Amino acid sequence: MSGLSGGRRAPKICGLQIMESSNVQAADRYNNVAITLHWVVAVLVLVMIGLGVYMVDIPRGTDERSFFYNLHKSIGLTTGIIVLVRLWWRWKNPPPPLPSSMPAWQVTASNISHRLLYACLIIMPVVGFSASQFTKWGVTYFGMFKIPPMAYPDKEIYNILQGVHGFMGYLLMVLVIVHILAALQHLLIKKDGIFQRMLPGR
Ligand code: HEM
Ligand code: HEM
Repeated sequence: MSGLSGGRRAPKICGLQIMESSNVQAADRYNNVAITLHWVVAVLVLVMIGLGVYMVDIPRGTDERSFFYNLHKSIGLTTGIIVLVRLWWRWKNPPPPLPSSMPAWQVTASNISHRLLYACLIIMPVVGFSASQFTKWGVTYFGMFKIPPMAYPDKEIYNILQGVHGFMGYLLMVLVIVHILAALQHLLIKKDGIFQRMLPGR
């Protein structure tokens, strides 16, 4: 899936391959599996953030709160598993090289922000799941079966873990907003083909 020809080794900036071309139309795209996984995870993450922010204000002890908490936990666990699959796929199929016309600072910024996004996508489900181990509820996966808590109810540990979960939730929101603005800048202002790398098609 590399966009390089002639078997020459591509130069790297901050670990990312750079394509020796400013012809961004020639820029390779992510493969279809990577594109599908990106958009599935993108939708799930936006739903998760919405659910998280909405459900914390539902009155305690109601069926509605329990429903939305379990929905959030179930989708969150599923998202975590899909992200692991995605990282495995990325490891086997490295991203296409970026065009050499892209300034080095942008390559570095894109690399750092993608790493931070992946970190949040892994740490958030792990911390959320760990927190629910310290309640008496555990997780009822899409109402189908219960994953009983492996620990014991402990409000203090729960609050610490949920503090981390909440903080990372807001960090993730900032990262996603910056990410979307950067993507739109490539699409509407720079028109350099970077946005199209993540769109299905030929
Ligand atoms: C990609 C995955 C996830 C994202 C993006 C996410 C996001 C969020 C957000 C934005 C909040 C609201 C924070 C606040 O307003 O304080 C929240 C709360 C919460 N999340 Fe997640 N979450 C994820 C996965 C999980 C998982 C897997 C679990 C448990 C199995 C979980 C359990 C919870 C719980 C229990 C709360 C409510 C905390 C409280 O009552 O204060 N989350 N989540
Ligand atoms: C909804 C609007 C979104 C748009 C328009 C968008 C667009 C893009 C584009 C164009 C790329 C490819 C950048 C490149 O070629 O180097 C990309 C990569 C990426 N996006 Fe998004 N994205 C969106 C939402 C999200 C969300 C919600 C997340 C997760 C929280 C996310 C996580 C990522 C990650 C981790 C990469 C790096 C892919 C890799 O190299 O493995 N995106 N996105």
